[in-house]
Amino acid sequence: MTIDQLRLRGADYQTALPPRCYTDPDFLALELEKVFRRDWICIGHVADIPAAGDYITFDLPGLRVMAVRQQDGSVKVLSRVCRHRAALLGREGGGKATLFVCPYHCWTYELDGRLRGAPAMSGSSGFRREDCRLPEFRSQVWESLIFLTCSPAAEDLSASLEATRARLEPYRLSELKTAFAIEEVWNTNWKVAVENGSESYHHGGVHRQTLEPLFPTTGVRAEPGGLWYNMHAVPASIDFSFEGGQEDRPSATQLNSSLGPQQLRELLILGIYPNLVIAFAGACVTVFRFVPVNVAQTLVRATWLVPASYLELANADAVLERDRRTLQAIIAEDRASCADVQVGLSCLDAPAAGPLAPIERPIGEFGSYLRRRLCGD
Ligand code: FES
Ligand SMILES: [Fe+2]
Repeated sequence: MTIDQLRLRGADYQTALPPRCYTDPDFLALELEKVFRRDWICIGHVADIPAAGDYITFDLPGLRVMAVRQQDGSVKVLSRVCRHRAALLGREGGGKATLFVCPYHCWTYELDGRLRGAPAMSGSSGFRREDCRLPEFRSQVWESLIFLTCSPAAEDLSASLEATRARLEPYRLSELKTAFAIEEVWNTNWKVAVENGSESYHHGGVHRQTLEPLFPTTGVRAEPGGLWYNMHAVPASIDFSFEGGQEDRPSATQLNSSLGPQQLRELLILGIYPNLVIAFAGACVTVFRFVPVNVAQTLVRATWLVPASYLELANADAVLERDRRTLQAIIAEDRASCADVQVGLSCLDAPAAGPLAPIERPIGEFGSYLRRRLCGD
């Protein structure tokens, strides 16, 4: 299969990608090489590793890394693969370390990846301590989110997203803290999940009882995106405002005084390529990350970010439990719908080039990004 056979090159961007892009393992291999190993991928949030030695792990096919808070407060993204015989360092998910001790033969590494101890290695002619440092990946923190790239040529991420700055500023994303995360595997290709998150055309169908009454499809407004992102807004229905909230929690502007009338009356959705979708909902924000497990399965992680004062509420546990249930219900609706789409895409008569609605512009732009990355060099 070639890109030309898929008719990606030169296609117009008013149509969905061909079905095989979502079902062919060879296409996923191409995406891993040309997208996931080149562009910026979000690992997590700096607030999740507040103190020196705190770390979180992150997996991609062919990649096991950890973001580690250093003694000087900076964050490094290091390989978890031991330089001896490749056992994995660190606990799955993350933890706290003073040193990383390999569970296999007990080599030990400093927080910055330097090898400190290697028992019984003296006399080994092939061993040079300085050659055994854990590889460090290029990383960048944008709005408190930690990203890595495997490519020395990747453009500066903050510069790529500069045009979104004014629009995002009132939300104070960089000051938010992680309240909780929901992680699950969806039976769908990663792009189905990303595209689902990048449009709100489906509110009337998929979220009829949940989101549609508050943020109806009819109001969706696609905004022009850039080379590395797309954006759309969903104005609230006439009788909803984030300011109203519920009686047992502060209003949105009490939580974040920068929010203006516009932020109080709309959902703002930002897609950052390749696999991140951020939903700004008044004082709170959900970060959705979609990582391919295989061509038909995706690991979805939804992180609920809130102002620090929200976590300090006397009734924080109850309020957050309600937030979790609400988010879980919406995610379950998306999960079922995306799994359905994957089945449809696998059918012989799946649409070769489904037409996109004007309010699906972010999907057209995402397709344009993919074509650029996959068809280039
Ligand atoms: S593989 Fe890590 S010490 Fe042997
Ligand atoms: Fe949805």
